[in-house]
Parts: sequence; C-alpha cells; structure tokens
Amino acid sequence: MLKTIDALHASADALRYADRVVVATGAGMSSESGIPTFRDALTGFWARYDPEDLATEAAFRRNPARVFGWYAWRRRLIRQVVPHPGYHALVQLERHIPELAIVTQNVDGLHRRVGSTRVLELHGSLERFSCVDARHPFPHALVPEPTGDGECEPPRCPRCGSPVRPDVVWFGELLPERVMTEAWDLVAASGVMLVVGTSGLVQPAAQLPFIARDAGATVIEVNPDPSAVSAAAHVTCRGPAGVVLPALVATLAEGIER
Ligand code: OAD
Repeated sequence: MLKTIDALHASADALRYADRVVVATGAGMSSESGIPTFRDALTGFWARYDPEDLATEAAFRRNPARVFGWYAWRRRLIRQVVPHPGYHALVQLERHIPELAIVTQNVDGLHRRVGSTRVLELHGSLERFSCVDARHPFPHALVPEPTGDGECEPPRCPRCGSPVRPDVVWFGELLPERVMTEAWDLVAASGVMLVVGTSGLVQPAAQLPFIARDAGATVIEVNPDPSAVSAAAHVTCRGPAGVVLPALVATLAEGIER
C-alpha cells in the first residue's frame, strides 16, 4: 500500500485529467462534523430503542409519534453541526473537474448545505417529507419541529389523511428508482471514483466502487480503516476525510499551478 503522501499524489494524478468523477460518500464523511453514526445516534431519551425498531415502515405505523420524534431529534442535531473542511474541499474539487457528481448514502444534507451542486441522495433526506400511504409530497414548512426530546405526532397528508413520514429509505425499502438509475449511469461512465467514509456493507450502494472499477475507472478510497470497498480501490488514502480531502485538493491545485 502507498504511504499517504504517495497516495495523495497518485490520487491527484488520476483526478488531474479526469472529465467525469463520482464521489461516493457514507457516514464516515460526517463523523468529524460530530454527526453520530446510525447506531451511535441512540443516546439519551432514544438509547432504549433499537434503531431497526425506529427505521422501518412497520415501526412507523405502530407508533408514528415515536418514529417522527426520533427523526425530529436527528434533524435538530444535524442543523447544529458545522460541515468540516473535507466538505468544502469537495466544493472546490468541482472547479477542477468538468463533470463531478456526489452520490451519498447520508441523509444529513451537508453536501448541499456547503454548496456542492450535483448531489444524489441514495437514501433520501431528513429534510424532505411525504405521506406514508401514497407518498404524496408534504411541505417542509408545515412540519412541526419540537424543541425537546421525545415523541412528536406527525402531521397528516391533506390529500389522503395518512401520517407524514421523513423521505428516507427505511430498512426493507427499495432505493428511489430515478436517483438509483442516475447514480448507476454516472458511475458506469466515470473515469475516477472517490469513495469516502463508507464501510461498503450496505447494499446496493456497496456495489458502486466495484461497478466503477469493472467499467475502467480509477477507484480511490478515503477511510482511516480498511473496509469492504478496499478490494475495489486502486489507491487508498488512509486517513480521515476532513484531513485527506483538503490535502488532496491542495495537491491537485499545486500540480495545476506549477
Ligand atoms: P458505516 O457506519 O457502515 O461506515 C462508516 C465508515 O466510515 C467506516 O468504514 C469507517 O471506517 C469510516 N470512517 C469513520 N470515520 C471516518 C472519517 N473521519 N473519514 C473517513 N471515513 C471514516 O456507514 P455507511 O457505509 O455509510 O442506511 O453505511 C451507513 C448506512 O447504513 C446508512 O446510510 C443507513 C445505515 O443502515 C439506510 O438508512 C438505508
């Protein structure tokens, strides 16, 4: 394996002449901003629950106020965090690459918040809503935002009367088809894929680095630890996203200015 400095140069070399780049991000992308992973998120009032009992349609139908309250709590946490420099580095990277898309498993919306322009959210977004029966969209502005921990009754859909849920992918649900098709097409056409902060254990997103590699792309992994994605990577940058991504963009910019 290359040392980090060599890996940064190898990554910058791959990116320098790339026309099409896909950046695939997972929960590790947000950990330095203080967003706990799915399981770590269950602290305080919510520690008594199993996440799989909060992130399924069956759980929501059993107790809509409990599940809605949990998501309201996560939304509040996420609004308070500050995206780390790795997020800003990806915004800068867009200036160097003719076509760059971010395909994220995260539902926290941080890529959009910092200004990345082409973001595909494979697992949906905590800030979008639809009703549980017909998936009629529901306006964000009408969603109650409790200030404390605890249960929160969801609003009802004005069209069909069913309770409103967050537009995220729950266990046992399929990925949104349009987003999935677009992401798979982008990956198959990419020259470089940067894979940041994912364990590569959650399907179908975990296939993406392997699809990119099979299609001839150079795959670069950014992760402090080995993962199931490591087998697909041509270059591995072992380190946290908040450090590696700014260093990578700086290395790329140096090479361009020289
Ligand atoms: P995981 O929580 O499975 O994996 C996080 C990865 O991030 C691990 O490989 C860590 O080594 C790495 N990591 C930790 N800190 C990092 C840092 N500072 N910089 C870079 N990498 C770091 O997260 P995902 O692979 O994203 O799905 O899988 C999470 C998915 O599983 C979620 O999207 C959710 C959950 O079930 C659904 O809701 C459908």
